[in-house]
Amino acid sequence: MRIIKGFSLLLVLILLPVMLFASGDKEEGSSAIVSQDWIQVDENWNVNYEFKGSEIEFTLTAPTTGWVGIGFNPSSRMKDADFVVGYVKDGTLFVQDSYGVKSTSIDSDTSIGGTDNVRGISGTENNGITTIVFALPLDSNDIYDKTFVQGDSYKVLLAYGKDSDDNFDSKHRKRDSMDAVLK
Ligand code: HEM
Repeated sequence: MRIIKGFSLLLVLILLPVMLFASGDKEEGSSAIVSQDWIQVDENWNVNYEFKGSEIEFTLTAPTTGWVGIGFNPSSRMKDADFVVGYVKDGTLFVQDSYGVKSTSIDSDTSIGGTDNVRGISGTENNGITTIVFALPLDSNDIYDKTFVQGDSYKVLLAYGKDSDDNFDSKHRKRDSMDAVLK
């Protein structure tokens, strides 16, 4: 009996740190890797960011020729999150500052009385992979935007559309979410 108890204790002592370490920054169900200034969801699906003066600049990549998107801090599912959606068409970048109006739909900030505060920087589409670069103000003063504070934790939503979906409002082909401290 003593031996079994001792063995169980040993097992817990070995397994507990392994389980805690393995869960890391990942949200349940997500296999995303969250590191210093980088979130990697899957092959060719990632985002990196940099705090630059009064802005935060993002480079968002996903394996699609349709739209790519990111959202921050929903109250539940997609509702009340601050979104940016973008796509590249004929070499031109289109981006839209958006908001989670319902748990399952988003709208442009401008259509609900807010302002468009995303600054599109560049966009490319190569071998079925889209990369968009854009900047958001750390504090836009728009009620439909979140403020970005270095060192704070955010729930980050990531998604992308089907290859044919060069638009801001068709549903995702894939989506994921994770918690990340923006450093
Ligand atoms: C930047 C763009 C978007 C991102 C990052 C995003 C992300 C997400 C995430 C992470 C979820 C899961 C939420 C949860 O259950 O906890 C979700 C759910 C959902 N989203 Fe989006 N989304 C975006 C755009 C859209 C658009 C444009 C539509 C519809 C036209 C849409 C429709 C839905 C629906 C119906 C669900 C719930 C059912 C499901 O997951 O299939 N999303 N979205």
